[in-house]
Amino acid sequence: MIWPGKRGSAMTTNGKGVGEVGQGETVLPIVDSGSAAPEDPFAEVKFRIHEQLLRDLDLEKVQQRQGPQLRRAIEEAAMTLLAGQETPLSRQERVRLVREIADEVLGLGPLERLLADPTVTEVMVNSPRRVYFERKGILYLSDVTFRDEAHIMRIIDKIISPLGRRIDEASPMVDARLPDGSRVNAIIPPLAVDSPTITIRKFSRDPLTIENLIELGTLTPEIATFLKACVEARINTVISGGTGSGKTTLLNVLSAFIPPRERIITIEDPCELQLRQPHVVRLETRPANIEGRGEVTQRALVKNALRMRPDRIIVGEVRAGEAFDMLQAMNTGHDGSLTTVHANSPRDALARIENMVLMANLELPVRAIREQVASAINMVVHLSRLRDGSRRVTHVSEVVGMEGDTITMQDIFLFRQLGVERDGRVKGRMHATGLRPRCVDRFEQEGIILPPDIFAHRAGETQWKP
Ligand SMILES: Nc1ncnc2c1ncn2[C@@H]1O[C@H](COP(=O)(O)OP(=O)(O)OP(=O)(O)O)[C@@H](O)[C@H]1O
Ligand SMILES: [Mg+2]
Repeated sequence: MIWPGKRGSAMTTNGKGVGEVGQGETVLPIVDSGSAAPEDPFAEVKFRIHEQLLRDLDLEKVQQRQGPQLRRAIEEAAMTLLAGQETPLSRQERVRLVREIADEVLGLGPLERLLADPTVTEVMVNSPRRVYFERKGILYLSDVTFRDEAHIMRIIDKIISPLGRRIDEASPMVDARLPDGSRVNAIIPPLAVDSPTITIRKFSRDPLTIENLIELGTLTPEIATFLKACVEARINTVISGGTGSGKTTLLNVLSAFIPPRERIITIEDPCELQLRQPHVVRLETRPANIEGRGEVTQRALVKNALRMRPDRIIVGEVRAGEAFDMLQAMNTGHDGSLTTVHANSPRDALARIENMVLMANLELPVRAIREQVASAINMVVHLSRLRDGSRRVTHVSEVVGMEGDTITMQDIFLFRQLGVERDGRVKGRMHATGLRPRCVDRFEQEGIILPPDIFAHRAGETQWKP
């Protein structure tokens, strides 16, 4: 089946964008990113009232209420306290302050507004007056500000203390998750030189689908058809790309093609995938506790997963020694495994995996590792984040075998950038190279028949030369 959609790779702006919901979008003022966001003239008033609220509120009584009722109680208390202040305020300012004070008491303060906006996909706090967000792949400086660095620290504490974690000079970096599944990283001075820093990758309640990726121009219907066949025919596939290039998103989309009868074990650090199949066991790594004990690595989880009768093993991202166990699993009958790796090209992906194994097992000769890589991994799908914020599959490359000491690969689909539109959007085209992938034989054995012209290099396309 070929997905209906636009042939070629022109980026479409219609259809559903990233996290786009249309309704409920709040307007987030954007600040010229050359400067810092202006100071909030009401920061002091807000701080005083927040402190006073925390002192005065009969918290136990207030917390018996829930949801909107609780919020209303806080807002009423804040309104009363505001009325006693000397600062002259317009009605609009008053409403805003009350909302922000309630956000501070009940949630993550200034971050709440960004977290509530479904079109915002990432939030980055660099310093009190430099809070950025990403929407549709583009970074913006927001008008959201923190009072000072201590305020940022307080919000970090609010995120991690319910999880029994802490951040201080002795352990100045922390990874955590918000209750809704959003991924948070915080790093503080002296490691973050200028200010405590927070990065949030928001959890999408409504993850992108293969149709969305086609609409966004990330891949073509032909590539989608091909990758679906790869998953169904249990071709071991690695998704590679740079930071934020869309690897996990594509992994999630491809995982959806795994037949529902199969037993899937996922291994992640931290959990991000949202599989819809009924038979999934999710494993997540555990960092060491405050005494430095109890760490469980991805490698230990992969080993354990092999004893769990998996039909498929999905490793969210290979980073270290687990690459070795994953390759072994792929080479010993656990076909159809999927993973991602941070790399600059398909070839770099293989080199990095080889390096990870090398670092983990000093006894193995390079040649043996390389042979394992070549026989275990069948397909590399490489993603790039282009200048206009769009994410594209730039290579679908098949691992063919070894020639001498070198792993041989052949590109099946490639993206060619053709220039830049006036509005900054990247022009390009994804096309088949004309090579017939070897895995087609495997498809045929599995009874998967693809349209014969899917790999044909179409007239009018410049022949791609390496
Ligand atoms: N095809 C796409 N088109 C547009 N935006 C996308 C696409 N795929 C992912 N995104 C957005 O890009 C951000 C990063 O996506 P994702 O987590 O999949 O990337 P990643 O490569 O796994 O990142 P990391 O290197 O941090 O693991 C998310 O906010 C996501 O919504
Ligand atoms: Mg990822």
